[in-house]
Amino acid sequence: MDNIQEEFRDYIESGFSLVKTADESLSLMQEGLDEEMHSRSGAFSESVYIYYEPLREFIKGEVDDGFEVISVGLGLGYNEILSAIVAVKSNKNFEILSFEKEEVLSHLFKKRINAPSDYPIFYDLFIKKFGIDVVIKACNYLTRKCIFKKALNKASLKNIRVSSKAILFDAYSNKTSQPLWQPDFLEEFFLKCENKSFVTTYASTGNFNRALRKTGFIRDKKRLGFAKKRESTLAFKGVVKGV
Ligand SMILES: C[S@@+](CC[C@H](N)C(=O)[O-])C[C@H]1O[C@@H](n2cnc3c(N)ncnc32)[C@H](O)[C@@H]1O
Repeated sequence: MDNIQEEFRDYIESGFSLVKTADESLSLMQEGLDEEMHSRSGAFSESVYIYYEPLREFIKGEVDDGFEVISVGLGLGYNEILSAIVAVKSNKNFEILSFEKEEVLSHLFKKRINAPSDYPIFYDLFIKKFGIDVVIKACNYLTRKCIFKKALNKASLKNIRVSSKAILFDAYSNKTSQPLWQPDFLEEFFLKCENKSFVTTYASTGNFNRALRKTGFIRDKKRLGFAKKRESTLAFKGVVKGV
């Protein structure tokens, strides 16, 4: 664990503890919270299944010029890197808006994308799955195309434009981040999506699903949850074919 402690020292010093998950990837737990950022069954694998695979499939279709990815909750940045990997591998060009309440996490993530070779443990699974060239290109892509935003809330929602988008909704649960799971907030958020959009999240809650339905999304009802979870949520607007 010593190398890990060293590589993630900046997170530890900022009040986060490290959680090793079943696929060897790391998750974080913030001091004062009793919720970890990822499934114990695998932080990397969960991010690949819930966020990367739907985006990879979606991008195979026709994508509007103004298409953008919105990542809710940067955390360690798995979803930002995976989105950039989709862009690099598909040769498509889209912006990634990354919302994160804890400014220190955005700051530490920027260090990681600017000097990937300094963080071999962090990038290990990405490199094993996608190859070093793709990962380096994805980091470069993020330095150009990722826009770092502060907390997502009713005020910052107003600045999100209406376009076709992918919403990668990786907030803490309702217990920890209650305002993000409220019906009126979710409806206002989903109304920012034009046709040819999708929303994906690890959870499946009544409020979330009702907000999707009310704003014109259709759920993929066959979508299973990650690992031991029965369900997750994947929904499309104005897209005939699901993944
Ligand atoms: C489940 S973790 C996200 C994990 C992350 N997607 C990753 O790849 O590591 C939730 C994150 O949301 C952040 N967060 C909490 N409230 C937020 C808000 N209102 N807006 C944006 N981020 C928020 C937390 O600080 C935490 O980093």
